[in-house]
Amino acid sequence: MRAPLSAPCEAPPHPRAGTLGSGYLGITLAGSPVWRIFLVGGEPLIWPPILDIIEAIKNNGVEVALCTNGIRLNQPDITAWIIRLGVDAVSVSLDSTDPAANDHYRPSRHDAHGWCDVVSGIRCLLAGRASGRPPRVGVYTVITRRNLSQIHEMGVFAVELGCDYYVPQPVSLAADHPLHAELSLTAADHAAVASALDRLYSAGLPLALPDRSYTRRFLASITADTGRVPGCFGGRELFFIEPDGSVWDCPSSLKIAATSPGQRRNIRGRTAAGLFATGPRCTDCSLFSHDCVNMWPP
Ligand SMILES: C[S@@+](CC[C@H](N)C(=O)[O-])C[C@H]1O[C@@H](n2cnc3c(N)ncnc32)[C@H](O)[C@@H]1O
Repeated sequence: MRAPLSAPCEAPPHPRAGTLGSGYLGITLAGSPVWRIFLVGGEPLIWPPILDIIEAIKNNGVEVALCTNGIRLNQPDITAWIIRLGVDAVSVSLDSTDPAANDHYRPSRHDAHGWCDVVSGIRCLLAGRASGRPPRVGVYTVITRRNLSQIHEMGVFAVELGCDYYVPQPVSLAADHPLHAELSLTAADHAAVASALDRLYSAGLPLALPDRSYTRRFLASITADTGRVPGCFGGRELFFIEPDGSVWDCPSSLKIAATSPGQRRNIRGRTAAGLFATGPRCTDCSLFSHDCVNMWPP
């Protein structure tokens, strides 16, 4: 099971000191089928309790994958804790080998940080971990009409940095988003995206890429708003949890909209074993959406 837990976070980092407690926050993962949690955000590394939560999850024998903008990886105390707590994977968002292009579409608040900080953050983490030890470090790149060449180039760059995995992901923007027309991939981009994905997968780069079936989902998401996924893992091996505790089968906005009030669930007052040990479910999904592609197993 892969259950991304997202949380909005705006506060400065929590200063770490003293002994780490166990059982913090009453996490109920032990004895549940949950084996990996993706901590997504917002930006998890500026959320004060994040290190305590990671510790509590790890103490329950569950893997942690942290998805971050990479800026806080420049803080030696944060990076040291990530390594010491045994975080299993750190995925860093970076959209281009061109600093200006990345920072144009991914501006930081007050323009205080950008591409250089993300790259140095990745380097700090890679330099800090012991050889062959966790975390695995990867790059996630959002692909738009404006950066198709980056599908391959960012893979090469991730290798140069020394990363372990790389995931190009299609941009997902609502139809009324101001950048939708400028950035969203369309059927007109299909051939170019297919060719760029082929180039990436044929390059034999020494790093992990998502299973090749991911490229079919990537391409499907840009030619149709929805589709059917027989035997989808959403709601069986993966759940999507929002900051208010809502538990969904997957992040598909179509599936979420189609979930009746009676089917809605929340983590509040529940145990992980009770919530996720629900037995066989119908997972033939006809509500595939571009929101789903980012969750495809790498
Ligand atoms: C929402 S972010 C949150 C985690 C972290 N703050 C970060 O910047 O990576 C999680 C993932 O979603 C990706 N993402 C953000 N906006 C997106 C969009 N409109 N379409 C597709 N992926 C997006 C990010 O690049 C990142 O890989």
